[in-house]
Amino acid sequence: MSRKILVTSALPYANGAIHLGHLVEYIQTDIWVRFQKMAGNECWYVCADDTHGTPIMLRAEKEGITPEQLIERVHGEHSRDFAGFGVGFDNFYSTNSAETQECANDIYLKLRAGGLIDIRTIEQYYDPVKQLFLPDRFIKGECPKCHAKDQYGDNCEVCGAAYAPTDLIEPYSAVSGAKPELRKSEHYFFKLSDPRCEDFLRKYTSSGVLQNEAANKMQEWLGAPGENKLTDWDISRDAPYFGFEIPDAPGKYFYVWLDAPIGYMGSFKNLCSKNGLDFNEYFKPDSTTELYHFIGKDILYFHALFWPAELQHAGYRTPTKIFAHGFLTVDGAKMSKSRGTFITAQSYLDTGLNPEWLRYYYAAKLSASMEDIDLSLDDFVARVNADLVGKYVNIASRSAGFIAKRFNGQLAPATADLPAIKSIQEAAPRIAELYEAREFGKAMREVMALTDAANQYVDSVKPWELAKQEGRDQELHVACSNALNLFRLLTVLLKPILPVVAGKVEKFLNIAPLVWDDSQSLLAAGHGINAYEHLMTRVDPKLIEKLVEANKESLTAAPAAPTPQRHAEQQQHDAKAKTAAAETAAEAGSLCTIDDFMKVDLRIARIANAEHVEGADKLVRLTLDIGGDTTRNVFAGIKSAYDPAQLIGRLTVMVANLAPRKMKFGLSEGMVLAASDADGKTPGIFLLSPDSGAQPGMRVK
Ligand code: MSP
Ligand code: ZN
Repeated sequence: MSRKILVTSALPYANGAIHLGHLVEYIQTDIWVRFQKMAGNECWYVCADDTHGTPIMLRAEKEGITPEQLIERVHGEHSRDFAGFGVGFDNFYSTNSAETQECANDIYLKLRAGGLIDIRTIEQYYDPVKQLFLPDRFIKGECPKCHAKDQYGDNCEVCGAAYAPTDLIEPYSAVSGAKPELRKSEHYFFKLSDPRCEDFLRKYTSSGVLQNEAANKMQEWLGAPGENKLTDWDISRDAPYFGFEIPDAPGKYFYVWLDAPIGYMGSFKNLCSKNGLDFNEYFKPDSTTELYHFIGKDILYFHALFWPAELQHAGYRTPTKIFAHGFLTVDGAKMSKSRGTFITAQSYLDTGLNPEWLRYYYAAKLSASMEDIDLSLDDFVARVNADLVGKYVNIASRSAGFIAKRFNGQLAPATADLPAIKSIQEAAPRIAELYEAREFGKAMREVMALTDAANQYVDSVKPWELAKQEGRDQELHVACSNALNLFRLLTVLLKPILPVVAGKVEKFLNIAPLVWDDSQSLLAAGHGINAYEHLMTRVDPKLIEKLVEANKESLTAAPAAPTPQRHAEQQQHDAKAKTAAAETAAEAGSLCTIDDFMKVDLRIARIANAEHVEGADKLVRLTLDIGGDTTRNVFAGIKSAYDPAQLIGRLTVMVANLAPRKMKFGLSEGMVLAASDADGKTPGIFLLSPDSGAQPGMRVK
């Protein structure tokens, strides 16, 4: 009987590029989904961009665009990358959608009606310059344990200590550099500590929905029976915030992690309205459909605790299983920008590497466990060349030509009891179980053993020798027909991993799209095939060198802005843009000597005061403190981009020895430095700020 299955991958953040780490998850999920579809199940695969939150809001601001513009652009980039790697979502949507908002409000209101929402006043760090409550990742300071400087507000990257942002010594805002203030504000909490949630989660997390490792982790988080370790979850954030406003709570927004998993529902709801599916059938509490979430092990807490507890108490079904995978390492180490192993999906495709090489390599490495998986670049080249090109494709390329040239493209009847054929047909159900269990590595080992047997058959009958001998046409015909049947059967087993190659094989063999049951049948005698076209080339190790080179962050590039959450790939992008700009200046021939440059006296200035100038539509009057009790009056043309009140207190860079200029509104004694796009493609004016620690009056050179 055909099952009805809904599958998700985690929603990628809409402020960074897809990289090979992400692809572990999307490729793993896609393989599983393709297998389910081939097996005849009704299977839907949905995803979306995760679009809300402070990092995305600030990122857009930094680029001088609206968050909506940013998420639209990134949606295009992500869609392109996923399509490039054959990740076949049935819907790739956005959490910033009417459907997601509708579901979020509905879940929230049901939880509230059930007495599971609490409102409490909490104290939190606030950036007085940026006028914004700061997420932990945007507060930095000295680690209270090891005293390393510039550590994030939630944990120390040097000693690994976890703490609250209020534990940091000399905290500062990573956004403006200002000293954060503790401010009170009302927050909304989901009462995870409520006995109803605890009881439910104890049962749910030990009911087999999780891998053993994950279930054990959950027991730790829940605490021993009788010792409820769950704490209530803060689901609100104060304006300014990019997200959904909470019903009946003006100025309060759902925290991004509240609406992110609800985005799975939103994306599916959108698919239902396009395809005429019944949303309710999939999400009602007694649904007989299956729901699976593929995620990385870093986001287990959200998916195994908060999310099922929300669904359960808002009257929806809970996930059938949560499948967590490990993290990608490259050549045994964390992906690294300086080594060039922080590889973006786009750079892989641009370098001209075949995406199905990576799909195969990941498949060969993946299992149902949460262990990290390693992409060893040398092993990648060796394995793809040996398995896919040397073994699999080789079967077809050695036999197709004879069928075309000598037998008018028509096949002889296959030898149904040929051991190599029989063993594939017998292995197919076992391999199906391995796919179902996400043991892709084991499945590939079996498939390659069967491929070896198929090659041994071809080696034993030697079509190239038969072809040279008189009167052995019939033997040649049978040998090549058997080889092509073997090749077709192996293609069935590999199709979830190699959809593009399988498509080419279907065209070449002149057959309907292969489904799993085709592993039990053979091509009919007299079946006509098309001309053989090259299916896959070997990996050229030079391409791998090129790929690593393309991802190497230039050592001369200036350090980039703070890293909110995990969008380091963005930093890399920034750094590259900076080197490109430097090259452009040199090319333009507008070179200046170091002596020329040193004539300009650049100083760190603190904006002691900023105010509107009566009658001027572009200017802001700045009072700049450059240390030693010296202040300067400067008129800056930045009114279109900055509210004067926001500027007070922040540091910037000024030209301190510019000849004073008499203006209609008074004397201007210098200028502040700001960036803007000469051709106006990125509108806006961006005032420079020094890294934290700089003091007014310091020379910039
Ligand atoms: N937006 C959240 C997920 C919300 S789901 C309701 C998020 N986004 S992410 O872009 O950081 O990561 C998306 C997925 O990719 C996560 O499951 C994450 O674990 C996975 N990976 C990100 N980097 C990875 C590796 N280096 N290796 C393997 N998986 C990785 O988390
Ligand atoms: Zn530390």
